[in-house]
Amino acid sequence: MVALKNSWHYASALTLILPTLAQSNYPDCTTGPLSQLAVCDVSLDPSTRAKALVAAMTLEEKINNTGHEAAGAPRLGLPAYNWWNEALHGVAAKHGVTFEDEGEFSYATSFPAPIVLGATFNDELVREVANIISTEARAFSNSDNAGLDYWTPNINPFKDPAGVGDRKHRVKTRFISPGDDLENPKVLATCKHLSAYDLEEWGGISRFEFDAHVSMQDLVEYYLPPFKTCAMDAHVGAFMCSYNAVNGVPGCADRYFLQTVLREHWKWEVPGHWVTGDCGAIERIQTWHHYVDDAPSAAAAALNAGVDLDCGSYFPDYLGEAERQGLVTEETLDKALTRLYTSLVQLGYFDPAGDQPLRSLAWEDVSTAEAEVVARDVATQGTVLLKNIDRTLPLSRNGTLTLVGPYINFTTEMQSNYAGPAKYIPTMIEAAEQLGYTVLTVQGTEINTTSTDGFEDALSAAQEADMVIFFGGMDNGIEEESLDRTRIDWPGNQEDLILRLAETGKPLTVVQFGGGQLDDSQLLSKSNIGAIVWVGYPSQAGGVGVFDILTGNVAPAGRLPITQYPKSYVDEIPMTDMNLRPGPNNPGRTYRWYDDSVLPFGFGLHYTTFKVSWAKKNFGQYDSASLTNGDRADLNTLDTFSLTVTNTGDVTSDYVALVFASAPDVGPQPSYRNHLPKRVNILPIQGLNPTKRSLHNILAQTEEVLRNLRHTGIGAVESSDENCIFAVGVEFLVDCTLRECGHLVERERVLD
Ligand SMILES: *[C@@H]1O[C@H](CO)[C@@H](O)[C@H](O)[C@H]1NC(C)=O
Ligand SMILES: *[C@@H]1O[C@H](CO)[C@@H](O)[C@H](O)[C@H]1NC(C)=O
Ligand SMILES: *[C@@H]1O[C@H](CO)[C@@H](O)[C@H](O)[C@H]1NC(C)=O
Ligand SMILES: *[C@@H]1O[C@H](CO)[C@@H](O)[C@H](O)[C@H]1NC(C)=O
Repeated sequence: MVALKNSWHYASALTLILPTLAQSNYPDCTTGPLSQLAVCDVSLDPSTRAKALVAAMTLEEKINNTGHEAAGAPRLGLPAYNWWNEALHGVAAKHGVTFEDEGEFSYATSFPAPIVLGATFNDELVREVANIISTEARAFSNSDNAGLDYWTPNINPFKDPAGVGDRKHRVKTRFISPGDDLENPKVLATCKHLSAYDLEEWGGISRFEFDAHVSMQDLVEYYLPPFKTCAMDAHVGAFMCSYNAVNGVPGCADRYFLQTVLREHWKWEVPGHWVTGDCGAIERIQTWHHYVDDAPSAAAAALNAGVDLDCGSYFPDYLGEAERQGLVTEETLDKALTRLYTSLVQLGYFDPAGDQPLRSLAWEDVSTAEAEVVARDVATQGTVLLKNIDRTLPLSRNGTLTLVGPYINFTTEMQSNYAGPAKYIPTMIEAAEQLGYTVLTVQGTEINTTSTDGFEDALSAAQEADMVIFFGGMDNGIEEESLDRTRIDWPGNQEDLILRLAETGKPLTVVQFGGGQLDDSQLLSKSNIGAIVWVGYPSQAGGVGVFDILTGNVAPAGRLPITQYPKSYVDEIPMTDMNLRPGPNNPGRTYRWYDDSVLPFGFGLHYTTFKVSWAKKNFGQYDSASLTNGDRADLNTLDTFSLTVTNTGDVTSDYVALVFASAPDVGPQPSYRNHLPKRVNILPIQGLNPTKRSLHNILAQTEEVLRNLRHTGIGAVESSDENCIFAVGVEFLVDCTLRECGHLVERERVLD
């Protein structure tokens, strides 16, 4: 079927005796046919080695290696390789990754879902988690249970409360970097999904066909910055283009994003960096988007746009035909394959095991005691206290606890999706019993049911309790990949049961699970509901992590990583509307543009009290010339601000300061109300003892500020409530030439 242009390679290969197929994922670079090629020559640079491999392949062999289940080239001793590996919050049991049924490699550390990691606002902790996951991934790879590249993290921002969306749970712009050694990466990470991937399955519209209409301003200010961070700051190895179209062009056929913005404008074109299509996305350029008429044209559109790999079969099945029809050149194909193989060379795939410390990572390095501690830390640091009246929490350490609700005996449900088996997941019941409480348990209801059969039992068990805790919320039956929500109130009759439990007059705590938010208005307003704790999906820490917070073993300091909207919100704007700014049919989206939240982004209470003060400072005129100096003007220092946090209560606690910049009537119009400049603004203060003070300098970089603050800028703090500090800017003037620098220039360049 496929023309064999380089068929002389076949002839020469015949003289090489093929060894039996290696058992290892790794190629045999010492004795096999591959060892004769420069790809195995460790003295050469990675792209030279990769090019040598590609040059030795026939066109058919090349095309056979353009899909995620790459066939390899038996003639050359190149083994098959599965490019599709997942590790969102721990090595995940998907596709290229296999878990054994028992014994070694039958489990891995299962960290809380990324939305919980996001709620910690602790970049150092994110780094630790990424470090552990990538170590475990290498151990899995060494035992042939996984590959070396991972299609994680998902960094699409979370614009809509019902857009669960994609339940790979978004971590705002914080990026999981797989170890910081750019020369010797442990694994390769993939930022996905470029771009404006926001809708799964909503109102009869599928992500496979959705055409997102996005303004240039929203792209530049909201939808693209996480990707820019991946490209320019994290130097991530791969990107994934998305199913949806943006302004008429399917994500994987969009040369503007994949070449102009990503590779040229963000300067991401570096040897070994590649782009994969989301799974089936290239096929859907034809079958769902009808952007082209036939399959070879779809394959060609993607390859020519800058997609190097197909998660699917359109590349391997149709690139041959596309080449015959002159829709693609072999040169373009070579470029894609060279990018792919360069990354494997960089990861040590073609190097002798003996030379690489990473190749000695083994089962002993998986699910270690240290990793277990970090998993529990993430669960507790990411827990958000939403309500606590009459000191309902922390719980008294003794007495009778009645546990009610669908989550009291759940295990794997606490992992959400994109997970692998955990060593052990303690339930709420087990955790409570281990703490020595007298425990009464009645499930009472399910996640989404109208049956009240369990109510009476639950209420009578509550009557016998000193304290009642309800564990419920959402699970993957309510929010999941391919399943956006249409409602954001509590599912089923859980809220009815909570309100009935409240009527017993017993101290009542509600523990809320789920990645997306639920409207807690009713629960917040009732004085007989003492406390609400949002725990997301705590994963393997399970009940133990939740009870760390409930008992005060750890004081809560997490903050909501997304806005909690009222339930009416979903009827005010369709999820298909991508506009962020308020308008006639748009109440505004996210904390930047929406004012009527039930609980704002960044909300979170403590068991102690804090006083936060911000040294007053007169801000002078900034010199736009020096601010915009250099290649990365966005990283220049604008100013430093000093912040003092004092624990004025009686409980040792962490504290996370979020500093928002706000400046009315500035920047490209219409401007937004609040903005959180990245990197500079988040300050996790750990273990601050009562009466102790902690003084911090916050460095503000020109990034974002430039874009927003044309005439005025960050000034003295106007108000500080318990949760957030809002810096309201009126005090200094930045010279107007700033219009021509930083992001504004970039926007104009992007527009070219
Ligand atoms: C390409 O893949 C097909 C299908 O797996 C296989 O039959 C064929 O032998 C492969 N060709 C080469 C040259 O490896
Ligand atoms: C808990 O223990 C304390 C003393 O250790 C006791 O005073 C209190 O009554 C107990 N509370 C309950 C609910 O049993
Ligand atoms: C919890 O689930 C386990 C396993 O499914 C089951 O054996 C046990 O009886 C359940 N416990 C309660 C209190 O429902
Ligand atoms: C919840 O249950 C109702 C019926 O009680 C059903 O109509 C709805 O589809 C369910 N929600 C989900 C997300 O499954």
